[in-house]
Amino acid sequence: MRLQDKTAIITGAAGGIGFAAAKVFAREGAKVALADFNEEQGEKCARELQKKGYEASFFQVNVADRENVDEIVSKVLSSFGKIDILVNNAGITRDAMLAKLSIEDFQKVLDVNLTGVFHCTQAVVPSMIANGKGRIINTSSVSGVYGNVGQTNYAATKAGVVGMTKTWAKELGRKGINVNAVAPGFIETGMTAAVPEKVMAQLLQMVPLARLGKPEDIANAYLFLASDEANYINGTVLHVDGGIMM
Ligand code: CAA
Ligand code: NAI
Repeated sequence: MRLQDKTAIITGAAGGIGFAAAKVFAREGAKVALADFNEEQGEKCARELQKKGYEASFFQVNVADRENVDEIVSKVLSSFGKIDILVNNAGITRDAMLAKLSIEDFQKVLDVNLTGVFHCTQAVVPSMIANGKGRIINTSSVSGVYGNVGQTNYAATKAGVVGMTKTWAKELGRKGINVNAVAPGFIETGMTAAVPEKVMAQLLQMVPLARLGKPEDIANAYLFLASDEANYINGTVLHVDGGIMM
């Protein structure tokens, strides 16, 4: 198993890509902390994994709230003893054309997708430094790399995630911590279900593989970057997008 004896926190693990990742990580031997805002769904996901005999627990967290993040990181450390892997996967959209985008929606997306990634990473890193090793995997997006109509706020955060990834890869590499990002294309989850049909048809035309990605397609990329197979990969952005916008 590729994550035997590892412990992982996955944020946004109560649905979509995050839950797919929790399943794949647990199957590969990791103890998984499913961290999410949505308590009902998160408990349900953790129970599903426990029923299969995996070590998985739910921790309710709002990644935008620093005190809350510090609290759950302490709880995970008490419960698991160490944190080997952090997957900063939680994210939201509040799409609108620039002219119609409210400052509230601009800020809300920054608070979760950008500041949330900063909070979780800063809270987890001291224990990784003490252990002399760790893996941090951030979630960017095709929108952060190429931009996307209606996503000023979201694209800004996902481009910001790339900047933080490369900075932390440089700062933390000599402490034994690899920091990388995955940039998914359009993936079949609740997030893309909200895109108007006509727009989705236009977007799909840009994908050489001519389909949306599946949550497992991204979960497998997280798994690769978390595994020993990626020991010498640091500061990279792995595009998992069916070849969109080459
Ligand atoms: N690409 C190309 N054209 C787009 C577009 C897109 N992504 N989004 C909207 N448009 C076009 C529309 O087709 C429309 O064209 P026409 O004027 O020719 O009809 C024009 O822009 C205006 O759009 P609306 O009439 O829909 O304007 P609105 O103000 O009612 O809504 C909107 C604007 C909220 C941005 C809505 O169009 C929308 O939700 N678009 C989808 C945005 C999107 O792609 N979000 C991705 C969500 S998934 C995700 O975020 C995951 C990830 O990381 C990729
Ligand atoms: P999703 O909407 O299915 O799941 C997101 C999860 O994050 C939900 O369970 C939600 O409760 C949780 N969450 C939201 N705000 C939170 C907060 N403040 N604190 C803790 N948890 C919170 O979304 P999906 O599609 O699974 O997205 C996962 C990640 O992948 C996000 O970062 C998203 O931006 C990114 N992404 C998704 C793409 C897609 O097409 N679905 C494409 C590119 C990137």
